[in-house]
Amino acid sequence: MGLSIIILAAGQGTRMRSSLPKVLHKLADRPMLEHVIDCAESVGAHQIRVVYGHGGEQVINTSSHREVEWFEQKEQLGTGHAVAQALDGISDEDTLLILYGDVPLIGHATLTRLYSLCNDKTMGLLTARLDDATGYGRIVRNEQGQVTAIIEHKDASDEQRQISEVNTGFMAAPAKHMKRWVSALSSNNSQGEYYLTDVIAMAVADGIEVSTEHPNYPEEIFGVNDRRQLAHLERYYQKQQALELMMAGVALRDPARIDVRGIVSAGQDVEIDINVILEGNVVIGNNVRIGANCVIRNSVIEDDVIILENCVIEDAKVGHSSKVGPFARLRPEANLADHVHVGNFVEIKKSDVGSGSKVNHLSYIGDTTIGQRVNIGAGTITCNYDGANKHRTIIGDDVFIGSDTQLVAPVTVGDKATVGAGATITGDVPEGTLSISRVSQKNIIGWKRPVKKK
Ligand code: UD1
Ligand code: CA
Repeated sequence: MGLSIIILAAGQGTRMRSSLPKVLHKLADRPMLEHVIDCAESVGAHQIRVVYGHGGEQVINTSSHREVEWFEQKEQLGTGHAVAQALDGISDEDTLLILYGDVPLIGHATLTRLYSLCNDKTMGLLTARLDDATGYGRIVRNEQGQVTAIIEHKDASDEQRQISEVNTGFMAAPAKHMKRWVSALSSNNSQGEYYLTDVIAMAVADGIEVSTEHPNYPEEIFGVNDRRQLAHLERYYQKQQALELMMAGVALRDPARIDVRGIVSAGQDVEIDINVILEGNVVIGNNVRIGANCVIRNSVIEDDVIILENCVIEDAKVGHSSKVGPFARLRPEANLADHVHVGNFVEIKKSDVGSGSKVNHLSYIGDTTIGQRVNIGAGTITCNYDGANKHRTIIGDDVFIGSDTQLVAPVTVGDKATVGAGATITGDVPEGTLSISRVSQKNIIGWKRPVKKK
Protein backbone atom coordinates (compact mmCIF):
# COMPACT_ATOMS: atom_id res chain seq x y z
CA MET A 1 0.00 0.00 0.00
CA GLY A 2 1.35 3.36 -0.98
CA LEU A 3 0.72 6.63 -2.71
CA SER A 4 0.74 6.85 -6.51
CA ILE A 5 0.48 10.20 -8.25
CA ILE A 6 -0.65 11.03 -11.76
CA ILE A 7 0.22 14.49 -13.06
CA LEU A 8 -1.86 15.69 -16.00
CA ALA A 9 0.30 17.69 -18.37
CA ALA A 10 -1.08 17.07 -21.84
CA GLY A 11 -2.91 20.35 -22.37
CA GLN A 12 -1.80 22.51 -25.25
CA GLY A 13 -1.86 25.91 -23.66
CA THR A 14 -2.98 27.81 -26.74
CA ARG A 15 -3.52 30.98 -24.74
CA MET A 16 0.14 31.16 -23.76
CA ARG A 17 0.73 32.01 -27.45
CA SER A 18 4.03 30.19 -27.36
CA SER A 19 5.84 27.37 -29.14
CA LEU A 20 6.90 26.11 -25.72
CA PRO A 21 4.59 23.45 -24.18
CA LYS A 22 2.60 25.09 -21.39
CA VAL A 23 4.00 23.07 -18.49
CA LEU A 24 7.54 24.10 -19.48
CA HIS A 25 6.86 27.79 -18.91
CA LYS A 26 8.86 28.86 -15.92
CA LEU A 27 7.94 30.00 -12.47
CA ALA A 28 10.90 31.21 -10.41
CA ASP A 29 13.09 30.08 -13.30
CA ARG A 30 11.95 26.45 -13.22
CA PRO A 31 9.35 24.77 -15.42
CA MET A 32 5.93 24.58 -13.78
CA LEU A 33 6.03 20.80 -14.16
CA GLU A 34 9.21 20.65 -12.08
CA HIS A 35 7.48 22.42 -9.21
CA VAL A 36 4.64 19.91 -9.37
CA ILE A 37 7.03 16.93 -9.48
CA ASP A 38 8.83 18.39 -6.43
CA CYS A 39 5.58 18.58 -4.57
CA ALA A 40 4.64 15.03 -5.60
CA GLU A 41 7.96 13.82 -4.22
CA SER A 42 7.54 15.82 -1.03
CA VAL A 43 4.32 14.01 -0.12
CA GLY A 44 6.04 10.66 -0.42
CA ALA A 45 4.66 9.15 -3.62
CA HIS A 46 6.33 5.86 -4.45
CA GLN A 47 5.50 6.35 -8.10
CA ILE A 48 4.89 9.49 -10.12
CA ARG A 49 3.37 9.27 -13.57
CA VAL A 50 3.15 12.18 -15.97
CA VAL A 51 0.60 12.25 -18.78
CA TYR A 52 2.03 14.31 -21.64
CA GLY A 53 0.68 15.27 -25.02
CA HIS A 54 1.60 18.50 -26.75
CA GLY A 55 5.33 19.00 -27.19
CA GLY A 56 5.90 15.56 -25.69
CA GLU A 57 9.55 15.14 -26.58
CA GLN A 58 10.44 18.55 -25.23
CA VAL A 59 8.56 17.92 -22.00
CA ILE A 60 10.24 14.55 -21.45
CA ASN A 61 13.70 15.90 -22.29
CA THR A 62 13.33 18.80 -19.88
CA SER A 63 12.44 16.55 -16.97
CA SER A 64 14.38 13.46 -18.06
CA HIS A 65 16.48 13.62 -14.89
CA ARG A 66 13.41 13.10 -12.72
CA GLU A 67 12.22 9.76 -11.44
CA VAL A 68 8.87 9.77 -13.18
CA GLU A 69 7.15 7.54 -15.71
CA TRP A 70 5.78 9.02 -18.90
CA PHE A 71 2.43 8.25 -20.54
CA GLU A 72 1.36 9.75 -23.80
CA GLN A 73 -2.15 11.02 -24.35
CA LYS A 74 -2.25 11.28 -28.13
CA GLU A 75 -5.53 13.18 -28.30
CA GLN A 76 -6.80 15.43 -25.54
CA LEU A 77 -10.19 13.84 -24.98
CA GLY A 78 -10.63 15.14 -21.45
CA THR A 79 -9.24 14.84 -17.93
CA GLY A 80 -10.80 11.40 -17.40
CA HIS A 81 -9.26 10.13 -20.63
CA ALA A 82 -5.90 11.59 -19.56
CA VAL A 83 -5.96 9.71 -16.24
CA ALA A 84 -6.95 6.52 -18.07
CA GLN A 85 -3.66 6.61 -20.01
CA ALA A 86 -1.63 6.19 -16.84
CA LEU A 87 -3.61 3.70 -14.76
CA ASP A 88 -2.13 0.47 -16.05
CA GLY A 89 -0.01 -1.27 -13.46
CA ILE A 90 -0.93 0.90 -10.49
CA SER A 91 -1.49 -1.37 -7.49
CA ASP A 92 -5.10 -1.78 -6.33
CA GLU A 93 -3.86 -1.24 -2.80
CA ASP A 94 -2.53 2.24 -3.59
CA THR A 95 -4.09 5.60 -2.96
CA LEU A 96 -4.15 7.55 -6.20
CA LEU A 97 -3.68 11.31 -6.17
CA ILE A 98 -4.27 13.50 -9.24
CA LEU A 99 -2.16 16.64 -9.81
CA TYR A 100 -1.85 19.11 -12.68
CA GLY A 101 1.30 20.25 -14.47
CA ASP A 102 -0.13 23.73 -14.93
CA VAL A 103 -1.12 24.26 -11.29
CA PRO A 104 2.37 24.82 -9.94
CA LEU A 105 1.88 26.19 -6.45
CA ILE A 106 -0.05 23.32 -4.93
CA GLY A 107 1.39 22.80 -1.48
CA HIS A 108 2.69 19.86 0.44
CA ALA A 109 0.47 20.43 3.51
CA THR A 110 -2.72 20.68 1.48
CA LEU A 111 -1.98 17.51 -0.48
CA THR A 112 -1.10 15.63 2.67
CA ARG A 113 -4.45 16.56 4.21
CA LEU A 114 -6.22 15.61 0.98
CA TYR A 115 -4.85 12.09 0.53
CA SER A 116 -5.09 11.43 4.26
CA LEU A 117 -8.87 11.56 3.85
CA CYS A 118 -8.70 8.43 1.75
CA ASN A 119 -9.59 4.98 2.97
CA ASP A 120 -11.60 2.03 1.71
CA LYS A 121 -14.86 3.89 2.21
CA THR A 122 -13.83 7.49 1.52
CA MET A 123 -12.20 9.54 -1.22
CA GLY A 124 -10.83 13.07 -0.95
CA LEU A 125 -11.72 16.08 -3.06
CA LEU A 126 -10.09 19.49 -2.87
CA THR A 127 -12.62 22.26 -3.23
CA ALA A 128 -12.56 26.01 -2.81
CA ARG A 129 -14.97 28.91 -2.61
CA LEU A 130 -14.34 31.54 -5.23
CA ASP A 131 -15.96 34.95 -5.70
CA ASP A 132 -16.02 34.30 -9.41
CA ALA A 133 -16.56 30.62 -10.11
CA THR A 134 -17.00 31.07 -13.87
CA GLY A 135 -15.53 28.18 -15.85
CA TYR A 136 -15.04 25.89 -12.87
CA GLY A 137 -16.88 22.69 -12.13
CA ARG A 138 -19.38 23.25 -9.28
CA ILE A 139 -19.65 21.08 -6.19
CA VAL A 140 -23.19 19.78 -5.78
CA ARG A 141 -24.15 18.81 -2.21
CA ASN A 142 -27.36 17.23 -0.86
CA GLU A 143 -29.43 18.53 2.09
CA GLN A 144 -27.09 16.75 4.51
CA GLY A 145 -24.23 18.67 2.97
CA GLN A 146 -22.70 15.57 1.40
CA VAL A 147 -21.05 15.93 -1.99
CA THR A 148 -23.08 14.15 -4.64
CA ALA A 149 -21.59 15.31 -7.94
CA ILE A 150 -19.49 17.81 -9.84
CA ILE A 151 -21.23 19.66 -12.65
CA GLU A 152 -19.00 21.35 -15.22
CA HIS A 153 -19.76 25.03 -15.81
CA LYS A 154 -20.82 24.38 -19.40
CA ASP A 155 -23.24 21.66 -18.33
CA ALA A 156 -24.61 23.49 -15.31
CA SER A 157 -28.06 25.01 -14.94
CA ASP A 158 -28.42 28.67 -13.98
CA GLU A 159 -29.21 27.56 -10.46
CA GLN A 160 -26.12 25.34 -10.27
CA ARG A 161 -24.00 28.21 -11.55
CA GLN A 162 -24.88 30.11 -8.38
CA ILE A 163 -22.82 27.59 -6.38
CA SER A 164 -19.60 29.23 -5.29
CA GLU A 165 -17.85 26.05 -4.17
CA VAL A 166 -15.72 24.83 -7.06
CA ASN A 167 -13.75 21.79 -8.03
CA THR A 168 -10.01 22.48 -7.94
CA GLY A 169 -9.38 19.28 -9.91
CA PHE A 170 -7.23 17.74 -7.15
CA MET A 171 -8.59 14.46 -5.86
CA ALA A 172 -7.42 11.34 -4.09
CA ALA A 173 -9.11 7.95 -4.15
CA PRO A 174 -8.34 4.29 -3.61
CA ALA A 175 -6.74 3.17 -6.89
CA LYS A 176 -8.94 0.09 -7.21
CA HIS A 177 -12.08 2.25 -7.27
CA MET A 178 -10.56 4.90 -9.50
CA LYS A 179 -9.65 2.32 -12.14
CA ARG A 180 -13.22 1.02 -12.20
CA TRP A 181 -14.80 4.46 -12.35
CA VAL A 182 -12.46 5.86 -15.00
CA SER A 183 -13.05 2.90 -17.30
CA ALA A 184 -16.80 3.54 -17.02
CA LEU A 185 -16.66 7.23 -18.02
CA SER A 186 -18.57 8.40 -21.06
CA SER A 187 -18.21 11.53 -23.15
CA ASN A 188 -21.91 12.23 -23.19
CA ASN A 189 -21.77 15.92 -22.23
CA SER A 190 -21.70 19.39 -23.75
CA GLN A 191 -17.99 19.22 -24.56
CA GLY A 192 -17.91 15.59 -25.74
CA GLU A 193 -15.06 14.94 -23.29
CA TYR A 194 -14.34 12.22 -20.76
CA TYR A 195 -14.69 14.20 -17.56
CA LEU A 196 -12.66 13.01 -14.59
CA THR A 197 -15.18 14.88 -12.47
CA ASP A 198 -17.86 12.29 -13.29
CA VAL A 199 -16.13 9.83 -10.95
CA ILE A 200 -17.62 11.77 -8.04
CA ALA A 201 -21.19 10.71 -8.81
CA MET A 202 -19.93 7.16 -9.40
CA ALA A 203 -18.26 7.14 -5.99
CA VAL A 204 -21.49 8.27 -4.36
CA ALA A 205 -23.41 5.54 -6.24
CA ASP A 206 -20.87 2.98 -4.93
CA GLY A 207 -21.42 4.13 -1.36
CA ILE A 208 -18.00 5.79 -1.15
CA GLU A 209 -18.14 9.03 0.78
CA VAL A 210 -16.60 12.12 -0.83
CA SER A 211 -14.79 14.14 1.85
CA THR A 212 -13.56 17.60 1.04
CA GLU A 213 -10.46 19.54 1.99
CA HIS A 214 -9.48 23.08 1.11
CA PRO A 215 -6.26 24.79 0.06
CA ASN A 216 -4.38 27.01 2.55
CA TYR A 217 -4.53 29.90 0.09
CA PRO A 218 -6.24 30.30 -3.31
CA GLU A 219 -3.04 30.53 -5.39
CA GLU A 220 -2.36 26.88 -4.55
CA ILE A 221 -5.14 25.82 -6.87
CA PHE A 222 -4.79 28.47 -9.59
CA GLY A 223 -4.03 27.00 -12.97
CA VAL A 224 -2.05 28.80 -15.63
CA ASN A 225 -3.68 29.32 -18.99
CA ASP A 226 -2.01 32.56 -20.08
CA ARG A 227 1.05 34.63 -19.27
CA ARG A 228 -0.91 37.04 -17.12
CA GLN A 229 -1.92 34.20 -14.79
CA LEU A 230 1.66 32.90 -14.74
CA ALA A 231 2.91 36.37 -13.80
CA HIS A 232 0.36 36.53 -11.01
CA LEU A 233 1.58 33.24 -9.57
CA GLU A 234 5.20 34.34 -9.96
CA ARG A 235 4.50 37.47 -7.88
CA TYR A 236 2.64 35.43 -5.32
CA TYR A 237 5.49 32.94 -5.08
CA GLN A 238 8.04 35.73 -4.72
CA LYS A 239 6.03 37.34 -1.98
CA GLN A 240 6.08 34.03 -0.10
CA GLN A 241 9.83 33.71 -0.57
CA ALA A 242 10.35 37.23 0.76
CA LEU A 243 8.19 36.48 3.80
CA GLU A 244 10.17 33.34 4.52
CA LEU A 245 13.45 35.23 4.33
CA MET A 246 12.15 37.88 6.69
CA MET A 247 10.91 35.25 9.13
CA ALA A 248 14.42 33.77 9.04
CA GLY A 249 15.85 37.13 10.11
CA VAL A 250 16.71 38.82 6.83
CA ALA A 251 16.00 42.55 6.53
CA LEU A 252 14.60 43.29 3.10
CA ARG A 253 14.51 46.98 2.15
CA ASP A 254 11.47 46.16 0.03
CA PRO A 255 9.98 42.65 0.08
CA ALA A 256 8.35 43.38 -3.27
CA ARG A 257 11.71 43.93 -4.92
CA ILE A 258 13.63 40.70 -4.40
CA ASP A 259 13.42 37.58 -6.55
CA VAL A 260 14.37 34.17 -5.27
CA ARG A 261 14.78 31.57 -7.99
CA GLY A 262 16.13 28.66 -6.06
CA ILE A 263 16.99 27.80 -2.50
CA VAL A 264 18.42 30.45 -0.24
CA SER A 265 19.64 30.03 3.27
CA ALA A 266 20.60 33.11 5.23
CA GLY A 267 21.94 33.78 8.71
CA GLN A 268 20.96 36.56 11.07
CA ASP A 269 21.13 40.28 10.47
CA VAL A 270 21.44 40.03 6.75
CA GLU A 271 20.38 43.19 4.90
CA ILE A 272 19.30 43.06 1.30
CA ASP A 273 18.67 46.21 -0.69
CA ILE A 274 16.25 46.42 -3.61
CA ASN A 275 16.26 44.55 -6.93
CA VAL A 276 18.40 41.66 -5.82
CA ILE A 277 18.04 38.31 -7.61
CA LEU A 278 19.15 35.13 -5.85
CA GLU A 279 19.34 32.04 -8.05
CA GLY A 280 20.10 28.36 -7.55
CA ASN A 281 21.63 27.46 -4.21
CA VAL A 282 22.70 30.55 -2.36
CA VAL A 283 24.12 30.35 1.14
CA ILE A 284 24.46 33.60 3.05
CA GLY A 285 26.08 33.85 6.48
CA ASN A 286 25.43 36.29 9.33
CA ASN A 287 25.76 40.08 9.11
CA VAL A 288 25.96 40.17 5.36
CA ARG A 289 24.96 43.30 3.43
CA ILE A 290 23.91 43.02 -0.19
CA GLY A 291 23.52 46.24 -2.15
CA ALA A 292 20.94 47.09 -4.76
CA ASN A 293 20.81 45.36 -8.16
CA CYS A 294 22.99 42.37 -7.37
CA VAL A 295 22.56 38.96 -8.99
CA ILE A 296 23.91 36.08 -6.92
CA ARG A 297 23.77 32.58 -8.33
CA ASN A 298 24.90 29.28 -6.75
CA SER A 299 27.32 30.97 -4.40
CA VAL A 300 28.42 31.04 -0.80
CA ILE A 301 28.70 34.38 0.98
CA GLU A 302 30.28 34.03 4.40
CA ASP A 303 29.76 36.10 7.56
CA ASP A 304 30.34 39.85 7.69
CA VAL A 305 30.64 40.27 3.94
CA ILE A 306 29.63 43.49 2.24
CA ILE A 307 28.53 43.29 -1.36
CA LEU A 308 28.01 46.75 -2.78
CA GLU A 309 25.61 47.66 -5.58
CA ASN A 310 25.46 46.10 -9.05
CA CYS A 311 27.53 42.96 -8.60
CA VAL A 312 27.09 39.70 -10.50
CA ILE A 313 28.33 36.68 -8.56
CA GLU A 314 28.07 33.16 -9.97
CA ASP A 315 29.42 29.81 -8.69
CA ALA A 316 31.72 31.72 -6.40
CA LYS A 317 32.71 31.87 -2.76
CA VAL A 318 33.20 35.07 -0.84
CA GLY A 319 35.09 34.48 2.40
CA HIS A 320 34.18 36.18 5.66
CA SER A 321 34.72 39.90 6.17
CA SER A 322 35.36 40.48 2.49
CA LYS A 323 34.08 43.43 0.51
CA VAL A 324 32.97 43.20 -3.11
CA GLY A 325 31.83 45.86 -5.58
CA PRO A 326 30.26 48.05 -6.62
CA PHE A 327 30.17 46.74 -10.20
CA ALA A 328 32.23 43.61 -9.62
CA ARG A 329 31.80 40.32 -11.45
CA LEU A 330 32.76 37.06 -9.81
CA ARG A 331 32.56 34.28 -12.35
CA PRO A 332 32.56 30.51 -11.77
CA GLU A 333 35.23 29.26 -9.38
CA ALA A 334 36.16 32.68 -8.10
CA ASN A 335 37.17 31.77 -4.59
CA LEU A 336 37.86 34.64 -2.24
CA ALA A 337 39.38 33.91 1.18
CA ASP A 338 38.61 36.14 4.17
CA HIS A 339 39.14 39.93 4.30
CA VAL A 340 39.52 40.18 0.54
CA HIS A 341 38.60 43.40 -1.28
CA VAL A 342 37.35 43.26 -4.84
CA GLY A 343 36.45 46.66 -6.19
CA ASN A 344 34.73 48.24 -9.14
CA PHE A 345 35.00 46.90 -12.66
CA VAL A 346 36.94 43.85 -11.57
CA GLU A 347 36.29 40.44 -13.12
CA ILE A 348 37.56 37.31 -11.43
CA LYS A 349 37.26 33.82 -12.89
CA LYS A 350 38.61 30.43 -11.77
CA SER A 351 40.96 32.04 -9.29
CA ASP A 352 41.83 31.84 -5.62
CA VAL A 353 42.40 35.11 -3.86
CA GLY A 354 44.21 34.74 -0.54
CA SER A 355 43.35 36.26 2.81
CA GLY A 356 43.64 40.05 3.03
CA SER A 357 44.43 40.56 -0.66
CA LYS A 358 43.01 43.43 -2.69
CA VAL A 359 42.01 43.82 -6.31
CA ASN A 360 40.36 47.16 -6.16
CA HIS A 361 40.02 48.66 -9.61
CA LEU A 362 39.51 47.74 -13.27
CA SER A 363 41.17 44.34 -13.42
CA TYR A 364 40.80 40.92 -14.98
CA ILE A 365 42.00 38.00 -12.91
CA GLY A 366 41.55 34.63 -14.60
CA ASP A 367 43.11 31.20 -13.89
CA THR A 368 45.16 32.72 -11.12
CA THR A 369 46.28 31.92 -7.61
CA ILE A 370 46.88 34.98 -5.49
CA GLY A 371 48.54 34.57 -2.08
CA GLN A 372 47.86 36.51 1.10
CA ARG A 373 48.11 40.29 1.63
CA VAL A 374 48.69 40.90 -2.06
CA ASN A 375 47.88 44.24 -3.64
CA ILE A 376 46.88 44.13 -7.28
CA GLY A 377 47.10 47.61 -8.80
CA ALA A 378 44.42 49.23 -10.93
CA GLY A 379 44.15 47.98 -14.48
CA THR A 380 46.04 44.73 -13.96
CA ILE A 381 45.26 42.04 -16.49
CA THR A 382 46.18 38.37 -16.36
CA CYS A 383 46.70 37.34 -19.99
CA ASN A 384 45.51 33.78 -19.40
CA TYR A 385 44.58 32.87 -22.94
CA ASP A 386 47.00 32.60 -25.85
CA GLY A 387 44.28 32.13 -28.42
CA ALA A 388 44.32 28.37 -28.04
CA ASN A 389 44.99 27.41 -24.42
CA LYS A 390 44.51 28.82 -20.95
CA HIS A 391 47.47 29.22 -18.61
CA ARG A 392 47.83 29.95 -14.91
CA THR A 393 49.31 32.89 -13.11
CA ILE A 394 50.72 32.25 -9.65
CA ILE A 395 51.28 35.16 -7.30
CA GLY A 396 52.89 34.54 -3.90
CA ASP A 397 52.21 36.21 -0.53
CA ASP A 398 52.84 39.92 0.16
CA VAL A 399 53.29 40.74 -3.51
CA PHE A 400 52.70 44.24 -4.86
CA ILE A 401 51.64 44.45 -8.49
CA GLY A 402 51.82 48.02 -9.83
CA SER A 403 49.00 49.51 -11.85
CA ASP A 404 48.47 48.67 -15.50
CA THR A 405 50.45 45.46 -15.39
CA GLN A 406 49.92 42.58 -17.76
CA LEU A 407 50.90 39.18 -16.44
CA VAL A 408 51.38 36.94 -19.48
CA ALA A 409 50.65 33.42 -18.27
CA PRO A 410 52.05 30.96 -17.50
CA VAL A 411 53.99 33.07 -15.06
CA THR A 412 54.90 33.02 -11.38
CA VAL A 413 55.59 36.00 -9.13
CA GLY A 414 57.44 35.00 -5.95
CA ASP A 415 56.59 36.04 -2.37
CA LYS A 416 57.25 39.69 -1.46
CA ALA A 417 58.10 40.58 -5.07
CA THR A 418 57.18 44.01 -6.44
CA VAL A 419 56.19 44.75 -10.01
CA GLY A 420 56.52 48.37 -11.13
CA ALA A 421 53.55 50.04 -12.77
CA GLY A 422 53.01 49.54 -16.48
CA ALA A 423 54.89 46.23 -16.66
CA THR A 424 54.40 43.43 -19.13
CA ILE A 425 55.57 40.40 -17.18
CA THR A 426 56.44 37.49 -19.46
CA GLY A 427 58.90 35.67 -17.23
CA ASP A 428 58.90 34.59 -13.60
CA VAL A 429 59.69 37.21 -10.96
CA PRO A 430 61.86 35.77 -8.15
CA GLU A 431 60.96 36.20 -4.49
CA GLY A 432 61.67 39.61 -3.02
CA THR A 433 62.78 41.30 -6.26
CA LEU A 434 61.53 44.41 -8.06
CA SER A 435 60.60 43.85 -11.65
CA ILE A 436 60.28 46.77 -14.05
CA SER A 437 59.57 46.49 -17.74
CA ARG A 438 59.11 49.90 -19.25
CA VAL A 439 60.91 52.32 -21.54
CA SER A 440 62.76 54.77 -19.32
CA GLN A 441 61.39 58.30 -19.20
CA LYS A 442 62.88 61.03 -21.40
CA ASN A 443 62.02 64.72 -20.90
CA ILE A 444 62.46 67.00 -23.95
CA ILE A 445 63.19 70.53 -22.82
CA GLY A 446 61.74 73.38 -24.88
CA TRP A 447 59.47 71.14 -26.94
CA LYS A 448 56.56 73.07 -28.50
CA ARG A 449 53.09 71.75 -29.08
CA PRO A 450 51.88 71.95 -32.69
CA VAL A 451 49.53 74.86 -33.34
CA LYS A 452 46.54 74.81 -35.64
CA LYS A 453 47.16 76.22 -39.14
CA LYS A 454 45.16 79.38 -39.95
C1 UD1 B 1 -11.23 21.07 -14.97
C2 UD1 B 1 -12.32 20.36 -14.21
C3 UD1 B 1 -13.18 21.39 -13.49
C4 UD1 B 1 -12.29 22.21 -12.55
C5 UD1 B 1 -11.15 22.82 -13.31
C6 UD1 B 1 -10.18 23.45 -12.35
C7 UD1 B 1 -12.84 18.39 -15.56
C8 UD1 B 1 -13.77 17.77 -16.52
N1 UD1 B 1 -13.13 19.63 -15.18
O1 UD1 B 1 -11.82 21.88 -15.94
O2 UD1 B 1 -14.20 20.76 -12.76
O3 UD1 B 1 -13.08 23.21 -11.92
O4 UD1 B 1 -10.41 21.81 -14.04
O5 UD1 B 1 -9.20 24.14 -13.07
O6 UD1 B 1 -11.90 17.75 -15.12
N2 UD1 B 1 -5.72 17.78 -19.45
C9 UD1 B 1 -5.05 16.77 -20.06
N3 UD1 B 1 -5.67 16.07 -21.04
C10 UD1 B 1 -6.92 16.34 -21.46
C11 UD1 B 1 -7.59 17.40 -20.85
C12 UD1 B 1 -6.99 18.10 -19.84
O7 UD1 B 1 -3.90 16.47 -19.71
O8 UD1 B 1 -7.39 15.66 -22.35
C13 UD1 B 1 -5.07 18.54 -18.39
C14 UD1 B 1 -4.83 19.98 -18.80
O9 UD1 B 1 -3.54 20.14 -19.34
C15 UD1 B 1 -4.96 20.73 -17.49
C16 UD1 B 1 -5.97 19.90 -16.71
O10 UD1 B 1 -5.94 18.62 -17.29
O11 UD1 B 1 -3.78 20.71 -16.78
C17 UD1 B 1 -7.32 20.50 -16.66
O12 UD1 B 1 -7.81 20.57 -17.96
P1 UD1 B 1 -8.72 21.74 -18.46
O13 UD1 B 1 -9.12 21.47 -19.83
O14 UD1 B 1 -8.06 23.02 -18.16
O15 UD1 B 1 -9.97 21.53 -17.50
P2 UD1 B 1 -11.09 22.57 -17.19
O16 UD1 B 1 -12.02 22.63 -18.29
O17 UD1 B 1 -10.47 23.83 -16.71
CA1 CA C 1 -8.32 24.89 -16.90
